Amino acid sequence: MTVCGIETSCDETGIALVRDGREIGEKLASQAALHSVFGGVVPEIASREHLRVIEPLLEMLFQETGVGHRDITGIAVARGPGLLGSLLVGLGFAKGLALATGAPLVGVNHLHAHLLAAGLEAKLEFPALGVLVSGGHTHLYRIKSPLEFFLLGRTLDDAAGEAFDKGAKLLNLPYPGGRFIDELAQESEPLPKLFPTPYVDNDNLDFSFSGLKTALLQYVNAHPELKLGTLPVSVRSSKDLQLSPRLREQLCQVLASYNFSIAETLRIKVERALCREKMVRSVILAGGVAANSMIRRILGTCAERAGLLFSVPSLPLCADNARMIAYAGEILLDHGRRHDSQLEAIPRGRKVPEDFLLCSGL
Ligand code: KG4
Ligand code: ZN
Repeated sequence: MTVCGIETSCDETGIALVRDGREIGEKLASQAALHSVFGGVVPEIASREHLRVIEPLLEMLFQETGVGHRDITGIAVARGPGLLGSLLVGLGFAKGLALATGAPLVGVNHLHAHLLAAGLEAKLEFPALGVLVSGGHTHLYRIKSPLEFFLLGRTLDDAAGEAFDKGAKLLNLPYPGGRFIDELAQESEPLPKLFPTPYVDNDNLDFSFSGLKTALLQYVNAHPELKLGTLPVSVRSSKDLQLSPRLREQLCQVLASYNFSIAETLRIKVERALCREKMVRSVILAGGVAANSMIRRILGTCAERAGLLFSVPSLPLCADNARMIAYAGEILLDHGRRHDSQLEAIPRGRKVPEDFLLCSGL
């Protein structure tokens, strides 16, 4: 099967081709620079930008891979959760493509696609404990198979990615700040007690990161020198930051400690989940925040200690992309899952339904 995957749920426009579980090619256009001026994603701009680039991306992908409309035997599109206007661009495009090619269409849960993404690079083991950490979600799942996801715990307020991005914003670091915190944190050792591990003194598997951001705010108010001035837009990585050695050292230590609190909070809940989920054979870490080096290390050690396989995608596959949509879509199509032109986009905050039209005789 040759599946064309389409991703437009937030600020990345992606089109990818996957055949029999292997990537053939991908074209990805990031809008990060466009939105960073506003300190966050502006939905209206995001939708217009998806609409502007999506068709040229497909043409470029066809040219580069030598694959054409006629070769496509399945179409997979991220149907949510995400920004409604952005999702609608992808859905409209996917439905048009399905009509033009006659290939079956399937809507993919963006979160499930993140969790399966590592399968493009190495074999996944099920049942698995899924740890999804992204800009909008912090979810723990029992994943019985690539088609069966059970939510075990979720964030009650900020997602892990928001804890990073809002923390970075407090210091005036560019948006999205997660990568900056990661880079700066690597230059220092954390002070483990500087910030709390929030919402762990309970017996559940939910998260609450909003208090951690407040703890950082209080720390910054007491140490105002940490708040950077307005940075030029040319600052693209932590290496571009012009800071005195002393301030840099202080900033890195605070950020390493902040990063540590997020990583430790995840570890505590993951260990708790592993105590309960005795059948699990692996831990799958996924989502944009899975790119964080400290979280990868700490959760990797946690899985190893439990004698479990640790699966985490390579860095480009952690962020939003279309390869994961094509890959997850191919699995769904292989198992007879389909949608028709009634397929709906699901905005953030609404559960993505499993409203597939089952196709027998495959
Ligand atoms: O999965 P994703 O690309 O988009 C959503 O579906 O939300 O995740 C984006 C999030 C942002 O909050 C971003 O700051 C965070 O992932 N992120 C990181 C790192 N790279 C991206 N957070 C911590 N460390 C990183 N290296
Ligand atoms: Zn995502």
